[in-house]
Amino acid sequence: MILYFSSTGNCKYAAERIAAKTGDQVTSLTDAYQSGEFSIRPEEGESLGFVLPTYFGVLPTIVADFLEKAELRLDDSSYVYTVDTYGFHYGNVAAELAKILRRKTGREQDADFLLQSVDNWVPNFDLTDEAYVQSALDKADQLLPGIIEGIVQKKRVRVKGEWPAPMLMMMKKAYKKASQTKNFTVNDSCVGCGKCAAQCPLGAITVTEGRPHWSKASCTLCLGCLHVCPKNAIAYTKATVGHGQYYNPKTTR
Ligand SMILES: Cc1cc2nc3c(=O)[nH]c(=O)nc-3n(C[C@H](O)[C@H](O)[C@H](O)COP(=O)(O)O)c2cc1C
Ligand code: SF4
Ligand code: SF4
Repeated sequence: MILYFSSTGNCKYAAERIAAKTGDQVTSLTDAYQSGEFSIRPEEGESLGFVLPTYFGVLPTIVADFLEKAELRLDDSSYVYTVDTYGFHYGNVAAELAKILRRKTGREQDADFLLQSVDNWVPNFDLTDEAYVQSALDKADQLLPGIIEGIVQKKRVRVKGEWPAPMLMMMKKAYKKASQTKNFTVNDSCVGCGKCAAQCPLGAITVTEGRPHWSKASCTLCLGCLHVCPKNAIAYTKATVGHGQYYNPKTTR
C-alpha cells in the first residue's frame, strides 16, 4: 500500500511511479480522510509507503491529524518507507513521522527517501519561471529510478531531521500562523465555478453567490485552491500575485 498526500501532483506522480514498479495499491490520503477510512493495516509481508510533501519542514497538518486518528497496525514483516518530496529543504518530515509510528505501533519506518522536486510554495517561488520548473522536474526524474530501486530492494536507509529542536519549533509556529485563511483573497476574474471548493481536502471553502468564502479560520495550507483556479483568481497574501500556478505535468488531478 502506498499512501500519498498531494496538492500539486509531485507526490501523486511519485506514488504512481513507485506503484508501476511494485504493483502496490495507491491510496490518496485526502480520499481516505474525507471518507473516514482511518484504518491502515498492511497484510503480513506487505510494504507500506508514505509519499508526503514537506510543509514548513514538517508534516502537513492534515497528514499529522490523519495519522493521529488512524488505526495503525504494523508488524515487523512489513517494509515501511517514506518518500519526502520537497523543494529546497526537506526538514524533519521523516523524523516526525517516525515519532508518530513509534508511539502508535512500537516501531519506526525502515527507510526514508528524499525526492527533490518543484517547490509549490508560490509565495516564495515564481512558478512562471519555466526554466526553474523544468529543471526541478528533470531533477525529480533523475532521482526517482534510484528511489524506486531502493524500495524494490527493501533498502534500509534512514534520514535524520534537518532542523534542530529550536528551529523546528519556530517552523511549526510559523506554519500555524501562516495557515490562517484570512490570508486568502479572490479577485474579480472569479467565475464562481467552485473548483477551489472541490479541491479543498478539508472542505474549508464554500461558494455562495458566485464567490468562494473560507468557512474555516485555518486550514492545512496546501494551496490547492490557488493552483487549481482556472482564472488564477485566488491570492494568498500579495506575495503570490504574478507567481503563477503549478500542477505536475506528469500526472493528472
Ligand atoms: C505550505 C507549504 C510549505 C512548504 N514548505 C516547504 C519547506 O519547508 N521546504 C521545502 O523544501 N518545500 C516546501 N514546500 C514545497 C512542497 O513540499 C513541495 O513542492 C512538494 O513537492 C509538493 O508536493 P505535491 O505537489 O504533491 O503537493 C512547501 C509547500 C507548501 C504548500
Ligand atoms: S476556482 Fe477560481 S473561478 Fe472558480 S470559484 Fe474558485 S476562485 Fe472562482
Ligand atoms: S483552503 Fe486552500 S490551502 Fe487551505 S486546505 Fe483548502 S485547498 Fe488547501
